[in-house]
Amino acid sequence: MGNFLQPVIILFSLLVSTTGAVQVVYAQVGETVNLKPLELKKSHNYVYWKFMDLQLGWRNHFGGKSLTNDKAWNNKLQMTDDSLIIQDIQQENFGTFQVSVSSQSPLISTISTIILVKLEVSKSPASPLLPGESLSLHCSAEVSRKPEIYWLDPTGQRKTNNDGSFSTRVTGQHNGEWTCVVAQQKHVKMSITVVDLSPAPSHAQYTSTSMPVTIPCSLSPHITWEQIKVKGVEEVHWQFFPRQSSGVSAVKAQRLFFLSLESMLFTAEQNRDLRPVLRPTTGNFTLTRKQGREEDAGDYVCTVKFKNGVTLNSTVRVDVLQSKSEQTVQLFVALTSALRTFEVCLFFCLTCIF
Ligand SMILES: *[C@@H]1O[C@H](CO)[C@@H](O)[C@H](O)[C@H]1NC(C)=O
Ligand SMILES: *[C@@H]1O[C@H](CO)[C@@H](O)[C@H](O)[C@H]1NC(C)=O
Repeated sequence: MGNFLQPVIILFSLLVSTTGAVQVVYAQVGETVNLKPLELKKSHNYVYWKFMDLQLGWRNHFGGKSLTNDKAWNNKLQMTDDSLIIQDIQQENFGTFQVSVSSQSPLISTISTIILVKLEVSKSPASPLLPGESLSLHCSAEVSRKPEIYWLDPTGQRKTNNDGSFSTRVTGQHNGEWTCVVAQQKHVKMSITVVDLSPAPSHAQYTSTSMPVTIPCSLSPHITWEQIKVKGVEEVHWQFFPRQSSGVSAVKAQRLFFLSLESMLFTAEQNRDLRPVLRPTTGNFTLTRKQGREEDAGDYVCTVKFKNGVTLNSTVRVDVLQSKSEQTVQLFVALTSALRTFEVCLFFCLTCIF
């Protein structure tokens, strides 16, 4: 192979060359990148890649090609057409690359420079967070001329710091996929988990003496019981604030169930014949009964308490339809939804006309 390489190296240094633009490419350790010269010539005969002073590889239009045996690049490189693919990038692979694309007649070569810059992206802490805990995000490029770097929150809103650092006390809204944007060209995703309960239904749960009653409460879908344990869960319990004849909920609560952290089973204090789900370790704390009762009306509060004082709770309002008025209410519900459908139709008709 040495024989092959020799003329190539000579050619590389002898050519009258034009110099192309300098490109900066950002990557994290472990990533795969595809480096490509900016100016592509259709009729190129030779492509040579260099890293610092090391000849990485070349190929010609006869189908000949060669890649370096250097230890730092072994099994990492692939050459296709004009691009150099580097897999599983390590610290020693960051730096300046030069690619020379040449044609034989006329003898012209274009040399482009590509700087591969290391990106470091991290979050602290690495584990899920409780609301109120502080989160730090860092995103930095190992290069002297710092590019613009900023974070987008899970809703896509840009955070104001332009140096790649962002810190905040988290709320449930911070849960999700954050994105670090580097020099408007590289997007790195970072997933943040904030421990929370699934939001309670926004309107009352209806029941009646001829309907089952379900009082839902569960951890957000992305949270596991193991994660809750790591955060130092202290107590899970259900409280009930009965609706009084005046229509307002009582100030004093009845404790219904608490979860024993040893047995991982709900223990009843006043069970009101309600049944918790069988395996609360699935993160589902829902209570059910086959039939509703008049005295079920009120607010049910599901609470998860942590050792550091953080409390998550979710309040479910239950309304009981009186048997007499039940049909009326069902009719009312049906009418409301019919009316809404009609409104939508009307809207579309009007949109068509105007
Ligand atoms: C929780 O359990 C109840 C009763 O078994 C079920 O109806 C509900 O879908 C479950 N919720 C979740 C989030 O798994
Ligand atoms: C629910 O949590 C909030 C704050 O997290 C607290 O102010 C409120 O008292 C709690 N409600 C109950 C019934 O525990």
